[in-house]
Parts: sequence; C-alpha cells; structure tokens
Amino acid sequence: MSETSLSDTLNGFTPEPSSARRIVVLISGNGSNLQALIDEQTHDRLGGEIVAVISNVADAYGLQRARDAGIDAVVLPHGEYDSREAYDGALIKVIERHEPDLVVLAGFMRILTQRFVQRFHGRMLNIHPSLLPAYRGLNTHAKALADGVTEHGCSVHFVTEELDGGPVAIQAAVEVGAGETEASLKEKVHAREHLIYPIAVKWFLEGRLRLEGEVATFDGMPLPPQGLRMSHADAAEELDEDLGNS
Ligand code: GRF
Repeated sequence: MSETSLSDTLNGFTPEPSSARRIVVLISGNGSNLQALIDEQTHDRLGGEIVAVISNVADAYGLQRARDAGIDAVVLPHGEYDSREAYDGALIKVIERHEPDLVVLAGFMRILTQRFVQRFHGRMLNIHPSLLPAYRGLNTHAKALADGVTEHGCSVHFVTEELDGGPVAIQAAVEVGAGETEASLKEKVHAREHLIYPIAVKWFLEGRLRLEGEVATFDGMPLPPQGLRMSHADAAEELDEDLGNS
C-alpha cells in the first residue's frame, strides 16, 4: 500500500472518482432506451452513472427497469400539479437534488416549459424517432409511411425551446422496405435508438459532444444540422439485421 493511500485510509477519506459523471433519466413509459443505457452502464461503457430515473407516470415500466438495476426510481405525477409551470418547477427541484451532469429524456412525454429547458440548457438530450428535421412531434412512423419515404430513422438532439428542434448530435437511418408496416418500422427504428443514444451520452460525458451557442460540436468541430449519421448498412450490420428483408 502506498503512503498516500494509507493516510487516506487512516483519515477515513474515500475520494470520489473525479470521473463519475451523473445522469438523470426522465421517462414516461416502457423505458427501452433507458434499458439500453443501463446495459452500457453495467458493462462500464457509458462513461457515467445513472443516479436517478424520474417518471411522470406511476406505472411506467421503465421505473421497474431502474429498480431492477438498483437505480433510484422516482415518481412525480403531473396530475398533482395545477399548471405546467408548477410541475416543471417541482421537477427541476427533484432533478437538481441528484446533481446531474446530464439530463436524458428517454420517452418523457411532456411539453417542457421555457424555464425547464433553460435550466438544463446544453446538458439535456432527447431521442426522437425520425431523421430530424423531418417529422417533429408524434406518430412519426405513420407519417413516414404515408409519405412513402424510402429512408427513416432516429435522432439524438440537444433540447432547446423549439419542440424536437434542437441541434442534432447523431442520427441513424433505416431503409423503408416494401411491405413495411408501422410496427416493423417502429421496431427497426427502436433498435437504432438503442444503438445511438448510449453513444451520444458517452460522448457528452467525455466532453466530446457539446452545445456551443446554437450548434452541436464534436471534438470541437461544428456538426452539420443533421449531426453525425449512421447509415442503414452500418446500423444493420451492428444489429445483425437481415438485409434481405429491408
Ligand atoms: C422512443 O421511440 C423515443 O424515440 C421517443 O419515445 C420513445 C420511447 O421509447 N422519444 P422507450 O420508452 O425508450 O421504449
């Protein structure tokens, strides 16, 4: 034992690892993206620790995922607050108690107030099931199918006051095959979400991904508006998808 660690031990002082970045995840439902993050954390590949999962829905399955992983699971039901402002004020307090470096929205189905967005400006990410700026809002898979697009996907972006409008960090594309249904498309997009969200979180925690002014940067270089793009082929290979079916 070295002299330094001996004296540390004698003083009862256990230094906190300076690299332990703290993540708070907000959910409303299933939490499959949360699970993808938990899985990376379990393998020490996330670059930080999920210190709390907060849901506005009491029976969100994601809460169980958190508990199963030994993560603090908090319910803050929006129905108990008179206004969006009051709810977001309470949510800010709960989040800040956990002193996060990063707030991750993972299927958190709430419109956020300006105050909330500003509070976590530059340190809040969201994942959206489309290749932004296409198809902001809900029902993205149905809209993509109705338009007959040949390419769809998902995007991780910084959260700004514009709904689904903040600078994009990473996207992953999926080819829309003949005979594709909303369910099949959703499944493929979800698989890609689970690939890229942990990557974005890790890059952020490593300081590689940042929001500088209105622009997302990676290793100091401004990213294009659609961020870094994982192609359909690369994602399919990662996911062991049958390319013949796409
Ligand atoms: C995902 O499709 C994500 O893109 C959107 O909400 C959904 C959450 O799914 N923001 P899950 O709860 O992570 O399974």
